[in-house]
Amino acid sequence: MFDALFSAPGLAPHVAEMRARPRRWLVTGAAGFIGSNLVEALLRLDQEVVGLDNFATGHQRNLDELLGAVSPNQAARFRMMVSDIRDARTCAEACAGAEVVLHQAALGSVPRSIADPLTSHEVNVTGFVQMLDAARHAGVSRFVYAASSSTYGDEPNLPKREERIGNPLSPYAVTKLVNELYAAVYARSYGFKATGLRYFNVFGPRQDPHGPYAAVIPRWVDSLLLGEGIVINGDGETSRDFCFVANAVQANLLAALAPDEAQGEVFNVAVGERTSLNQLFALLTDGLARHGRNALGEASYGPFRAGDVRHSEADIGKAARVIGYAPTHDIAAGLAEALPWYLAQAAGKRD
Ligand SMILES: NC(=O)c1ccc[n+]([C@@H]2O[C@H](COP(=O)([O-])OP(=O)(O)OC[C@H]3O[C@@H](n4cnc5c(N)ncnc54)[C@H](O)[C@@H]3O)[C@@H](O)[C@H]2O)c1
Repeated sequence: MFDALFSAPGLAPHVAEMRARPRRWLVTGAAGFIGSNLVEALLRLDQEVVGLDNFATGHQRNLDELLGAVSPNQAARFRMMVSDIRDARTCAEACAGAEVVLHQAALGSVPRSIADPLTSHEVNVTGFVQMLDAARHAGVSRFVYAASSSTYGDEPNLPKREERIGNPLSPYAVTKLVNELYAAVYARSYGFKATGLRYFNVFGPRQDPHGPYAAVIPRWVDSLLLGEGIVINGDGETSRDFCFVANAVQANLLAALAPDEAQGEVFNVAVGERTSLNQLFALLTDGLARHGRNALGEASYGPFRAGDVRHSEADIGKAARVIGYAPTHDIAAGLAEALPWYLAQAAGKRD
């Protein structure tokens, strides 16, 4: 995945310069799925990285795995802070000396936010503003944050374009919209520009398959391997623009490396293709079969899930034009890289 990532047309010209002049990066949510992939990419590029995480949904095993995948010299350039973004002093300490902040820490999941809106608000809104404010005071030059496709809410037009959003459909979507509103106001009030990346369903190695709020791809793979049936919400024609994590990492690096004029924008991060849940189920069963694993579980249909957007597909033209983003992996290429990781995880646990 990293070879393809570092050869992406927008990123390749920066690689030698990054290695020659390493920057100091702060990655919040570093023990999580996307955060740990960001940390690994940065260490492979010989950068200095501070990670911040409270392990709410992230895991030490993600850090152990990434540190084992890089060289000892690269691993020595990583420092971990186990702390909470709801604590202002933590945010100030983490931002001190950082040139770039990649802010990923948040409580993901629409259903989680419906079950407990207050905690999602505290982490995703209060924690976000604290990070933004700490970065401003610390003189950070680039602040890139995880926004979300959930911000499109009930906007019916496809593909989704950055300037056209609807009403949020869940507390989670509100928190991510509020992030964008604060980012815009910090630019206007203080001239501090933060760039938002509206991720569409990201998947890949280290995405947690467990727990009630697990994302669909790791949850289904795990259930299929265990022989547990899976439930497709609604009629299975709900669709998503599934985005392999290498693409999300690419967008973060490009946004951070982009010139001043490109800062303070919001970009869709996806592939620009739509896959229905029924198609996803077929892709996963075929993919497992290619690894000699018959999917043991059957699919059944259940009710539509509250707060879910019906269709999602990104227009990635703005990210392509402004920061040179070009996804290296479509869903099939992403699954081909992600499935071996899930199979290895499952084998490690069950042997
Ligand atoms: N995965 C997706 O499809 C997707 C889609 C849209 C947006 N996002 C956003 O991307 C970001 C990363 O998501 P992910 O999929 O890697 O999820 P994740 O749960 O694996 O990672 C989030 C990390 O943030 C940490 N965290 C949570 N609360 C914290 C707190 N109070 N202080 C410090 N750390 C805290 C968690 O422990 C975890 O390691 C999140 O902001 C999420 O909302 C993800």
